[in-house]
Amino acid sequence: MENSFEKIVSFTKRRGFVFQSSDIYGGLGGFYDFGPLGVELKRNIKDSWWNAMTRKRDDIVGLDSSIVMNPNIWKASGHTENFSDPLSECKACHKRFRTDHLDDKTKCPECGGELTEARNFNLMFRTFIGPVEDSASIAYLRPETAQGIFVNYKNIVDTQRVKLPFGIAQIGKAFRNEITPGNFIFRLREFEQMEMEYFVKPGTENEVFKQIVEERMNWYVNDLGIKKENLRIRYHEKEELAHYAIGCVDIEYNFPMGWSEIEGIASRGNYDLTQHQKCSGQDLTYYEEATKERFIPYVIEPSSGVERVFLACLCDAYTEIEGGRTTTTESVKETEFLLKLNKKIAPIKVAVLPLVKNKENITAKAREVYNLLKGCFNCQYDEVGAIGRRYRRHDEIGTPYAITIDFETLEDSAVTVRYRDTMEQKRIKIDDLISILKKEIYED
Ligand code: GAP
Repeated sequence: MENSFEKIVSFTKRRGFVFQSSDIYGGLGGFYDFGPLGVELKRNIKDSWWNAMTRKRDDIVGLDSSIVMNPNIWKASGHTENFSDPLSECKACHKRFRTDHLDDKTKCPECGGELTEARNFNLMFRTFIGPVEDSASIAYLRPETAQGIFVNYKNIVDTQRVKLPFGIAQIGKAFRNEITPGNFIFRLREFEQMEMEYFVKPGTENEVFKQIVEERMNWYVNDLGIKKENLRIRYHEKEELAHYAIGCVDIEYNFPMGWSEIEGIASRGNYDLTQHQKCSGQDLTYYEEATKERFIPYVIEPSSGVERVFLACLCDAYTEIEGGRTTTTESVKETEFLLKLNKKIAPIKVAVLPLVKNKENITAKAREVYNLLKGCFNCQYDEVGAIGRRYRRHDEIGTPYAITIDFETLEDSAVTVRYRDTMEQKRIKIDDLISILKKEIYED
């Protein structure tokens, strides 16, 4: 019997959400591609985060920094020296493992062979800039987007009228040469981060930290629609803290494989700006006019991985209804698969379905409705198969509304709107569709 994680993995491939990278060549460990539905869901999650973090805030600005940066940045941030995991290798089968993930650190979990002593393995991907591959041309793919923000702190302060407390937000790719990627898209070698560095006056960091943790939890529940009972906060023990952190909590999701981190919120003190000031020789202090004080701000950092949030949304929404559902208008006698995604992040918002195919007037009217709606919502026109099958197809990929154009539509300029979660049907005038759907999707 498949467990539900395996079901979700196979569902995401079958319905075009996620594909193995380089699939026709046998794939590549730790890399995945996002198909037509996956890319929409991912984009909706990122847009939701971006809106919550920048557009709805007066105190946070956005940034898009480069992936490859001056390698001195990684020396200053401590990544060259400290960004590593302990690695052990089996002397018999030569497989490599993360030592801290092993119960018995002396024996290979695959073949029982003897393991080497753990050595530190740096997770940064290396590359070379320019035509010569020597030590002077080494550069790294960024392992976090955060450093791009710290090294632009001075640019932002000098060009924007920001005053403490203020934040800089960024969404972008990050790369880590994980020893053991796995759990589908949970631990990847190439992924996207949504990070915000919130700069505060020293002494105020604990209050702001609490507030940010609360805001972040609310985002998952209210904006993404993740069930509250599937989220929890875990405080880090002192030994667990990253080299830069003075305090940290994880927001964890109750995945089928167990509670696991989807976001880390760290109190980074003034570690990063102090290091960059020291190593770049640039003045990164902040001048507070009111008190005539000069200091290096402290930082609170919420940092989440897009793919992990994506996976949490899918796990939360995936629903099987054995024996199907029955209402006054529909009766399904087989197991139904439903993706109860929050309407705001559903990849397709509206399916436009002519009741019958190739009936000229109905097809033309359905196309007209589709053209009207597609300027406002991501819609799909679907005329293949019986109407019930088409409803099921859209339930499975999380489309909240299916709109049917029938013979009556030609008389009364109204359509039947069918709701994914309740199978309720409502007759709505075409002229009112956009305003009603907009309200229901984005305001209710
Ligand atoms: N700037 C802080 C930072 O990078 P982190 O806890 O290492 O902190 C933050 O990463 C988030 O990035 C994690 O909560 C997770 O969602 C995501 N993340 C980290 N490593 C990942 C990986 N190998 N694959 C997918 N997502 C990852």
